[in-house]
Amino acid sequence: IFEQPSILADTINAYYDAESSELNFSNLTIDFSKITKISIIACGTSYYAAMVAKYWFESFINLPIEVDIASEFRYRDSYLPENGLSIFLSQSGETADTLAAMRYAKQKGQITLSIVNVKESSLDREADFSLQCFAGPEISVASTKGLTTQLTILLLLTLHIAQETNRVSKLEISRKLQLVAEIPGRISEILNNVESVKVIAREVAQARNTIFIGRNYIYPIALEAALKLKELSYIHSEGIAAGELKHGPIALIDENIPIIILAPQNNLFEKTSSNAQEVAARGGKLITISSAEGNASLKNLSKYQINISHSDALIEPIIYAVPMQLLAYYVAVCKGN
Ligand code: M6R
Repeated sequence: IFEQPSILADTINAYYDAESSELNFSNLTIDFSKITKISIIACGTSYYAAMVAKYWFESFINLPIEVDIASEFRYRDSYLPENGLSIFLSQSGETADTLAAMRYAKQKGQITLSIVNVKESSLDREADFSLQCFAGPEISVASTKGLTTQLTILLLLTLHIAQETNRVSKLEISRKLQLVAEIPGRISEILNNVESVKVIAREVAQARNTIFIGRNYIYPIALEAALKLKELSYIHSEGIAAGELKHGPIALIDENIPIIILAPQNNLFEKTSSNAQEVAARGGKLITISSAEGNASLKNLSKYQINISHSDALIEPIIYAVPMQLLAYYVAVCKGN
């Protein structure tokens, strides 16, 4: 977790030359103007990275984008048109379902691109094209720097495709690239202020169930937060799209369940705040993660808060993933796991 600022700087430098302000995907000799559909396929945490990428791709690239869990994709008849691009995400590069899904996509004539951390892994070797994450070894079971490096490459790749297909002006691309360059510093700031996360971890460690809520591109981060917590602390945890809360899950809310609301201060903040009110009305134990200003407006509702400096919506999924990794880690430490 704490390696992320330096590792992300390395990953960014591998695909973006800050001096010339140019992206560098020279090995990716795909004619993106001919691509008819993009599918992104993965498992677990890598799948949540794919879900975030869908929001980015849809914002910048005018193509049908589909994401799927590898173990689902390989057993269904997804529409795979000629000149379709299938992207496979995997930290290890060896996940059996993802590898089988890639072989299936190849059989169906798709152009394949893998994004892997482990060089010379099966997915790296078998794909038509491959990009490396440069995260270094993921030693324990939890994928942390694996996730944030995948996300960073996917964001840079989105901008590359947008540039190659003339969807976004050069000026706009270089503005977005400046935001990407801010990521390591913003993550350092979070890692230098872990006290509030430790306090919340002590509370969450007492719970039997927890719920994480997010909206839009933060929704996959809520899913990822729930996965990381259950994987490390053995506490049951669910990630829920904020707008779905009222369609059933609200029935679970009582004063014993910590509800962690990921509410960056963006154009959907008011919507997420109204979900926070629904939870508070049911007596839920609210923990809000937002900017200082966002948290100030939620102060009367939430029991605990984590402040994250306000940043552009584009990079927020990468930034908000980190306090969720820390929470899972400190809860696991509290429980002696
Ligand atoms: O190596 P991969 O990225 O293909 O692994 C996929 C999942 O097994 C993995 O992300 C898993 O969900 C992690 N242990 C979560 O932390």
